[in-house]
Amino acid sequence: MADDIIAVKPEIAAKARIDAAKRAAMVAAEAKDPDAFWRGEMTRIAWMKEPTKIKAVDFNGDVSIKWFEDGVLNASVSCLDRHLATRGDQVAIIWEGDDPNSDAKVTYRELHARVCKLANAMRRLGVKKGDRVCIYLPMIVEAAVAMLACARVGAIHSIVFGGFSPDSLSSRIQDSECTLLITADEGRRGGRKVPLKANADEALLTCPSIRHVVVAKNTGGKVDMMEGRDHWWDALTEGEAAVCEPEPMGAEDPLFILYTSGSTGKPKGVLHTTGGYMVWASYTHQNVFDYRDGEIYWCTADVGWVTGHTYIVYGPLANGATTLMFEGVPSWPDNGRFWQVCAKHKVNIFYTAPTAIRALMRDGEGPVKKHDRSTLRILGSVGEPINPEAWLWYYRVVGDERCPIVDTWWQTETGGILISPLPGAVAQKPGSATLPLPGVKPALVDNEGNLLDGATEGNLVLLDSWPGQMRTIYGDHARFGQTYFSTFKGMYFTGDGARRDADGYYWITGRVDDVINVAGHRMGTAEVESALVAHPAVAEAAVVGMPHEIKGQGIYAYVTLKAGVEATEVLRKELVAWVRKEIGPIATPDAIQWAPGLPKTRSGKIMRRILRKIAANETEGLGDTSTLADPGVVQELIDNKVG
Ligand code: WTA
Repeated sequence: MADDIIAVKPEIAAKARIDAAKRAAMVAAEAKDPDAFWRGEMTRIAWMKEPTKIKAVDFNGDVSIKWFEDGVLNASVSCLDRHLATRGDQVAIIWEGDDPNSDAKVTYRELHARVCKLANAMRRLGVKKGDRVCIYLPMIVEAAVAMLACARVGAIHSIVFGGFSPDSLSSRIQDSECTLLITADEGRRGGRKVPLKANADEALLTCPSIRHVVVAKNTGGKVDMMEGRDHWWDALTEGEAAVCEPEPMGAEDPLFILYTSGSTGKPKGVLHTTGGYMVWASYTHQNVFDYRDGEIYWCTADVGWVTGHTYIVYGPLANGATTLMFEGVPSWPDNGRFWQVCAKHKVNIFYTAPTAIRALMRDGEGPVKKHDRSTLRILGSVGEPINPEAWLWYYRVVGDERCPIVDTWWQTETGGILISPLPGAVAQKPGSATLPLPGVKPALVDNEGNLLDGATEGNLVLLDSWPGQMRTIYGDHARFGQTYFSTFKGMYFTGDGARRDADGYYWITGRVDDVINVAGHRMGTAEVESALVAHPAVAEAAVVGMPHEIKGQGIYAYVTLKAGVEATEVLRKELVAWVRKEIGPIATPDAIQWAPGLPKTRSGKIMRRILRKIAANETEGLGDTSTLADPGVVQELIDNKVG
C-alpha cells in the first residue's frame, strides 16, 4: 500500500501554475544561476529599495545567513498596502468562530485600517523598531492585526500559543524582554473558555520588562485591568488614524521570534528576518497550494505555531488570498465541523495536520459525506508524518479522489515548506513528502556525516540555504551554531531522520533527537522532565515518546519518587495536573510509570533508547544492556509497564 503512486491527473497539470516541465525548468534555472533565480522570485514582494545583493551564506565558523541584505521593505506593505488598489474590497480574512453561528469577513481595506490604527497606538505607547512584543491571543482577527501592526512599526513579535501556561508565557516574555503584551479577555475552544488575561496577569508577576498590555474584548468575560498598564484595545485605537507610515526595514531586520522545543529544557527563540522570510512565504504558499486569485484558502493551524505565521497570515496575505481563520476545534459541536465550514465558506484549498485526520477517521465517512466538499481542489498535510492509511482516507473520503494531497515537510526553523509535491507536477505516494521544492537541497548523511547516495536511510540535512531559513536563536548565536551546524560540519541538521526511495522521494521517519511530536506539536522531553522534577515528590524523571494511534506520539514518563513518598493513584493524577499547569495542556503525560530505578550507564547517563523501547512494547530487541550500572532495573520496568 505504501508504494501506491498517484499520478498527476492531466486536467490538473494542464491548469496548474507549475507542471512537470515548468518544475524541471525551475530546478535547472536555480542550479545554473541561483542569484538570477532568486532575483526573479524576490519581485513577488514589495520593496522600498530593491536589493542588489542576493545571497551571502556561510554554514561554517560563526554561521552567517543573509539574503537580499541591502534591500529595504516593510512586510505589512506586501500584505496590505499594495493590494488596496486592485483588491481593496476583496475579503482578506474570513473568520469562523468556535460557535458555528459566529463568523466575520474583513476586506483588505478594513484590515489595512485596523492594522494602521493599532500600529499608531503602539507607537504612542512608545513601541519602536526592534522592540519585542508578545502576542498571546486566541484565533481571532486581532491576532493577524497584531502581527501586522508589529511589522508596521518594526517591532519583533513573539507569539505564545494560547494553550501555554502562565509559567511558559512568562519565561518566553523574559527571554526576549518584551515591553508590550497583546492579549484578550478570554479565548474560546470547543465550547469552553480559556482565561487568557488571568493567565497573563499571573505571568506578568515575573515579567518586569512589560510596560503595557493591550486587551482585546472577545468573550466579554470579567477581567482585572491594572490602571496605567492595561488598555482595552478598542478604547486605545478608537481615535487613531487609519493610515500609518510603515517603518523602513532592512531585509535582515528581524520580523519575528517564535519559541520552539529542542533537545534541552529551555525553548529556543527561533528568529526570522524580513526579506527572505517574506519571499519564501509567498513563493511556497503560491506554488505548493497552486493558489489562484479569488480562491478561499483554509489552514487549520493556530497562529501560535509557525504554520499559522506562514500559512494563515504572511504567505496568503502577501499573495492577495482570502485566508480563513478558525477559532474552534475539529470535534465541536461535532466531528463534521471541518467539512461544515468547508461547505459554508466554499473552501478551495484545505491544509491540516495528520492528527486531525486520524481522529476524524475513527468516526467513518458519515460526518464527511454529510457536507458538500465539491469546491475543494487541493488538500494539504503538515506537522508530522502522515501514515499511508490516513493519507488514503484523506484522499478518498475527503477529496473524493479528485484533489491532490500535498504532504509538506518543514520546521519552525525553515520558515516555510521545503519538501512537498507541487500538485500539478509531482506524482504522490501516500506517506511521502516527495521531492524538494526548486532551490532546496536536502541530503541524507550517516552518523559520521558522510553523504549517502541513492535509495537509503539517514539523517536529514540541508546542504545549502534558502531565503526563509532562520537566522539565529534570539540572544544566543553560539547556541544556533551548536544546535544546527555542529553535528554535521557545513550542513544544517534538521533533527529528523528520513528514507529516500529509488525515485528520490523522501519519507520522513520522525525526530532522531530528544524531541517528540505530540499531535503535531513539538515537545522537548527535557521540558517535561524539568516540570516533573520541580514537583516536591519527584526525585528523578525520564520522558520518552510512545506510539499513539491518534496523536502520532504520546508522552510516557518514568518517575522516581523521593524516598518515603508513597506511589499512589492520587499522586499520579496530581503529577499529570502539575505538568499541565507548568507547561500547558499540550504537555499532558499520557502515561506515568513509577520507576524505582532508571537504566543508567556507569557514568550516570540515562539510556533513553531502552526506555523508548519499553514504552513502545518492543522489549524483544533491547540491545546491549551490559553497560548498565544495574541491568536489573530493566526487567523491573518491563514488568511494571503501564497501558
Ligand atoms: C515534523 C511544523 C513528517 C518533523 C511545520 C519536523 C513532519 C517537525 C512533517 C517540525 C511532514 C513537520 N512529515 N514530519 N510533512 N512536517 N514534521 O517546528 O519532525 O512545529 O522536524 O514545524 O515536525 O515541527 P514544527
